[in-house]
Order: sequence, then C-alpha cells, then structure tokens
Amino acid sequence: VSLGVLGSGRGSNFAAILASIASGRLAASISVVISDREDAGILELAREAKIPTVVLRKGRFRTWLEPEIEEELAQSLRQFRVDLVVLAGFLRVLKGPFLAAYPGRVLNIHPSLLPAFKGKEAWKQALAAGAVETGCTVHWVDLEVDSGPILGQKKVPILHGDTPESLHARIQEAEHLLYSEVIQRVIERKLWQGIPS
Ligand code: GRF
Repeated sequence: VSLGVLGSGRGSNFAAILASIASGRLAASISVVISDREDAGILELAREAKIPTVVLRKGRFRTWLEPEIEEELAQSLRQFRVDLVVLAGFLRVLKGPFLAAYPGRVLNIHPSLLPAFKGKEAWKQALAAGAVETGCTVHWVDLEVDSGPILGQKKVPILHGDTPESLHARIQEAEHLLYSEVIQRVIERKLWQGIPS
C-alpha cells in the first residue's frame, strides 16, 4: 500500500510512520511527501529519507487551497500512485475537488479526543477548559473540519502544572504510536476500499 503524506510543519508524525515501516510494524511504503510550505521540516526529513517531495504552488489564500491547486495536489498523488493519503500536520482545509478525487481515502490526526476541542491548538483549549484528560484522534477526512468518522483514539492525562508545551509534547508522543497503529489496521482490513461516506 502506497501512502502519500501531507504536512506543513516539522514532520514528527511522518518520522514516526517512517520508523514503523522500517521496523516492520506498518506494511506500507511512503511514495511522496507533499507540503504547502517550502521551508517545512517535513520536507527536509523526506529528502534525508530519499522520499520524493512536492511543494504546492502558492495560492492567494492562507487557510485553504484554490480548487486548481487541489486538483494539482490530486494529480501529484495519482502520479505517485498513492492509495491512502495521510495528513500529518497539514494546515490547509481540503475541500471538494481533492476529496472528490480521493473519496474516503484521506486520514487525519488531531490533538484532542474528538469531538471535543476541534480546530486550532486543541491542547490549549483542553487546558483552558480545565479538562483532566485529553488525547489524540485519527479520523477519516470529510468536508467538515475535524469531523469525519473516528478510527482510533489515545487518551493522555493532563497533569498538575502542565503548560501548553508540556501537554502538547505528551499528546504528540501518543500521536506517534496511534497513527501507525491505525494506518496498519486500515490496511489490514482494507478499510480504504469502502469507507462510509
Ligand atoms: C500534530 O500535533 C497533529 O495533531 C496536528 O499537527 C501536528 C503535526 O506535528 N494535526 P508534526 O509536524 O507531525 O510534528
């Protein structure tokens, strides 16, 4: 199974997935890493791992992509024969054209126990709400932000004295375990061939 990983940031989830593949825990390969930011750490990591990279054309918008750029994104994924798209810190909202090209084949990881704390900096939202635990969620991507069917979650305690940084770091450790586990389950059960719409 060929994965395409999309990210805008440092790429620690991508690195964890790569390590799972190397150790045989995840029966997949990463065919391409795509970013909307040419300075993203994830691209550097991909180059070090000799994985092809693509940088999306700069558009006019900050939080989403023009339909033409989404179409180019879909083309790149087809060109690299990607079966399953893995969003790992990709900071753009994907809309119709892309999801139509890859229906039910796009996964995302979010740093909260969805449906709680959707949107930005979910760990800060959890702290501000006085929650005693939070976590991370892997879900299918649909047209709403952070809302598609949930595939797996890991809980993380919120400890006395936690700062946004300490909590985010603990959530990321959980993410690094959860994402590969869920991708492996999706592949084993061939869930990407008939996903609930
Ligand atoms: C993760 O915390 C993930 O939950 C969120 O973006 C972050 C990506 O981090 N969607 P990294 O680039 O994988 O280190």
